[in-house]
Amino acid sequence: MDETTASAPDDLVRRHAQPGRTLLAILHAIQDEAGFVPPAAVAPLSKALNLSRAEVHGVITYYHHFRTAPPAPVVVQLCRAEACRSMGSEALAQHAEAHTGCRFKQHGHASEHVHDHAGEVELESVYCLGQCALSPAMMINGTLHARVTPQKFDALLAKAMAAVVRTEEAV
Ligand code: FES
Repeated sequence: MDETTASAPDDLVRRHAQPGRTLLAILHAIQDEAGFVPPAAVAPLSKALNLSRAEVHGVITYYHHFRTAPPAPVVVQLCRAEACRSMGSEALAQHAEAHTGCRFKQHGHASEHVHDHAGEVELESVYCLGQCALSPAMMINGTLHARVTPQKFDALLAKAMAAVVRTEEAV
């Protein structure tokens, strides 16, 4: 995507801040299109919705779903909720950190997610992916995987990384 045109914050806000739309709906639409909510979108959003910048910023930071920086090429979302914990998701989290060299960032918030781009991979904690009977569960770039073992994780990650390389080569 050409960031100077299609995802320019002013353009994003102009396209998505339609009358009658809530701030949350607009933020979802912006993130769906751009992959994140650019910090520079806060000012035009506050103007478009007649809110203070602090109010807009507060909503973005309150909802862990919203990110303010582009995601890494491979995003791993590991379920850390109870059913998955009881089936070894914490050991899997440790394995994922050791294997990728990335860390699950600790926030005071119930959802921990890392946006530090320690490499090609981003590790994010999520709380229930609706696969409790098939735990531990995770998503890699939006694809659900169940009964994930460390070995299965390594294979899935290698596949996802290879897909990123293929995509980059095709560009
Ligand atoms: S608790 Fe992990 S999928 Fe529900």
